[in-house]
Amino acid sequence: MTDQTLVQVVLPGIVEPEDLRVQRTAVPQPGAGQVVIAMEATGVSFAEQQMRRGRYYDQPPFPFVPGYDVVGRVYAVGAGVDPGLLGRRVAVLTKVGGWSSHVLADVRDAVEVPEGLTAEQAETVVVNGITAWQMLHRRAHVRAGQTILVHGASGGVGSVLTQLALAAGVTVIGTASPRNHEALRAAGVIPVDYRAGNVPEQVRELAPGGVDAVFDHVGGRSVIDSWHLLAPGGTLVSYGSASTRDDSGWKQWPVLKIVLRALLWTALPNGRSASFFNIWAGKKLNQNRFRARLRADLTEVFAALRRGDIVTPIAARLPLAQAGEALRLAESGTVSGKIVLTP
Ligand SMILES: NC(=O)c1ccc[n+]([C@@H]2O[C@H](COP(=O)([O-])OP(=O)(O)OC[C@H]3O[C@@H](n4cnc5c(N)ncnc54)[C@H](OP(=O)(O)O)[C@@H]3O)[C@@H](O)[C@H]2O)c1
Repeated sequence: MTDQTLVQVVLPGIVEPEDLRVQRTAVPQPGAGQVVIAMEATGVSFAEQQMRRGRYYDQPPFPFVPGYDVVGRVYAVGAGVDPGLLGRRVAVLTKVGGWSSHVLADVRDAVEVPEGLTAEQAETVVVNGITAWQMLHRRAHVRAGQTILVHGASGGVGSVLTQLALAAGVTVIGTASPRNHEALRAAGVIPVDYRAGNVPEQVRELAPGGVDAVFDHVGGRSVIDSWHLLAPGGTLVSYGSASTRDDSGWKQWPVLKIVLRALLWTALPNGRSASFFNIWAGKKLNQNRFRARLRADLTEVFAALRRGDIVTPIAARLPLAQAGEALRLAESGTVSGKIVLTP
């Protein structure tokens, strides 16, 4: 069972992507309630760009194996786990550890991937799909006929969110670099150029009465602008602080500032609400509920992918051992779609 070698990519400290290390050891044995997944696809997400700078708000101490999510076949099962799972394709949201040929996971965290999706297709929507689905349907509760603003509408989370919203009958205004506008227009999104520096003016022209929800991963000044773009009854969902990736200082501060602002804004008697979304929130409070929601939501996203409601392009495929190159490519900002790592 464990005659294979475990290959992992290690982030040794605050380093350049070229300085990621590859280590080889024995594949672990699953403990009670655990499975070992033979990775078929894992991905590069924005979190790894922050982690390699030591800027992700709750990354483990160095050295560690990054990798926010993984899709693969169940390779070994521990005591108490149904052996019928062996060979089945599953997806796991790992936060770290996914850049590995084999991943040890609690079986309760493994979500079955339906027939008809390849491992690479499924990989494109694990963290991005769960985040998008939960923000749209569990946080903002968008409804047909509404108008929303999605920052970074061509990005990993943004593009899934945009397509799920369009499928739900929502009008989407999306910010993006001009090179992505044609594709956004073709998908039914009204594009806005964030590089022009006047997003609020452009959005007000399109939606003079404000928008029903804004999804903001930019942070900093953008969150304030996003708040002021809300229509009465509107919801601001902030979920990142991409604009402070290269800042120095206390890494929690940019998000904490947003959380404090959101609390204050929501407390004001203005009929609008704001919050910071964190995919992991609620895990400590109620693990069962957290797992049940994650399973239900990822299953919905897989179904949307199968139906063709969402299409998630793969920007590049690289072998796991070239994770540094993949990270460099992600940071170049020159590609659209998910960068996938394969064994
Ligand atoms: N809170 C959570 O639970 C959670 C979960 C997952 C991800 N996230 C966060 O989500 C964010 C996006 O992650 P991702 O993997 O989707 O990243 P990604 O694929 O790199 O996409 C980011 C997009 O942001 C756009 N962008 C860059 N600067 C911008 C600006 N100033 N205004 C508007 N758009 C801008 C880029 O658009 P162009 O290419 O068009 O220039 C890019 O497409 C990250 O901040 C990540 O930390 C949060």
